[in-house]
Amino acid sequence: MKALVLAGGLGTRLRPLTHTMPKQLIPVANKPVLHYGLRAIKDADITDVGIVVDGHDDHVRRAIGNGSAFGLNVSYIPQDAPSGLAHCVLIAREFLGDADFVMYLGDNIVMDGIVALRDDFLTRRPAAMVMTGKVLNPTDFGIAEVDTADRIVRLEEKPKVPRSDLAVIGAYAFSPAIHQAVRSVTPNWRHEREITDALTWLIDHGFDVNAHPVSGYWKDAGRIDDLLDCNREVLGTIQRAVHGNVGEGSELIGPVVVETGASVLASRIVGPAIIGADASVVRSTVGPCTSIGPDCEVMDTTIENSILLTGASLRGVRGISASVIGRSARVHARSAPERRLILGDDSKMLIEP
Ligand code: DAU
Repeated sequence: MKALVLAGGLGTRLRPLTHTMPKQLIPVANKPVLHYGLRAIKDADITDVGIVVDGHDDHVRRAIGNGSAFGLNVSYIPQDAPSGLAHCVLIAREFLGDADFVMYLGDNIVMDGIVALRDDFLTRRPAAMVMTGKVLNPTDFGIAEVDTADRIVRLEEKPKVPRSDLAVIGAYAFSPAIHQAVRSVTPNWRHEREITDALTWLIDHGFDVNAHPVSGYWKDAGRIDDLLDCNREVLGTIQRAVHGNVGEGSELIGPVVVETGASVLASRIVGPAIIGADASVVRSTVGPCTSIGPDCEVMDTTIENSILLTGASLRGVRGISASVIGRSARVHARSAPERRLILGDDSKMLIEP
């Protein structure tokens, strides 16, 4: 079995962060979202992995390399434009050959992994199997209707009037029958070839398409609030580990990770929280549910339920919450009454009057 990981697309819902990095590389608990998918693939004993990437951007290629750090053998499939999930399968034909494969959406976190999906697929041997889970916002997903034997009878992509609350989520298992199906799909109004249309083609032509109910936590980390939700959930699984320096007058409460080279001085860290390598936290309160990236500086600040990317700096700011702060961004308080702001395109800043 092979794996096809989708790490292209535009990431418009995560701007401005995605102006300078693909959404699949945004960190959750200080690791890129994509790492969680690659680890799930390795845990399912799949090693041949093709990653679909934006053909005009080499961030993912540079971050993952040949995959040896994950025990994987990774090849890259450049996509000229985000032409849809079925288009990703089309352009991966040569890599996939006639193998069965798992398709994993690189912006999804499926906490319990894909071993159960793989086993269910290999036992029931349908033409295709999709992981499904109930959602509160069905208009944002591909929505499935299933019969009592978990066979999918109907699928609709982001329906205006959903017929169920059962969403197609980040992982699919396919037999080579999918190749004929994706060739038959025509682009929608957004010029995207939808994988739900390919699955519908299979159903209409008498192939079995099965649902595999997800167990455990999963999330499409494609929006800021979902990213923060993933961060909370993944941090909820960490255990205390202190490799950096925690100075006198500091207090660590609950599961807190202090990575190598980090220093915590006269501060209170409330777990779950992670302080990245070479970060410094001084006279501050951090956490719960906060990931401070490598090389960050947090001084005279209180912050909870947030993510700081590499090199971000906060000085003298109180009450930061539900925030994501990009690489090397600075938020510094000034005593002068005027406010000086240098914000990139699509930045969001909420200021109390
Ligand atoms: O998260 C589950 C949902 O994912 C499903 O319920 C939907 O049926 C499915 O269409 C998909 O919807 P999204 O709107 O969330 O898809 P998104 O554009 O975020 O793309 C999913 C992943 O695939 C993401 O890592 C980006 C990548 N991608 C996307 C497109 C459109 C590509 O690599 N190339 C593409 O052309």
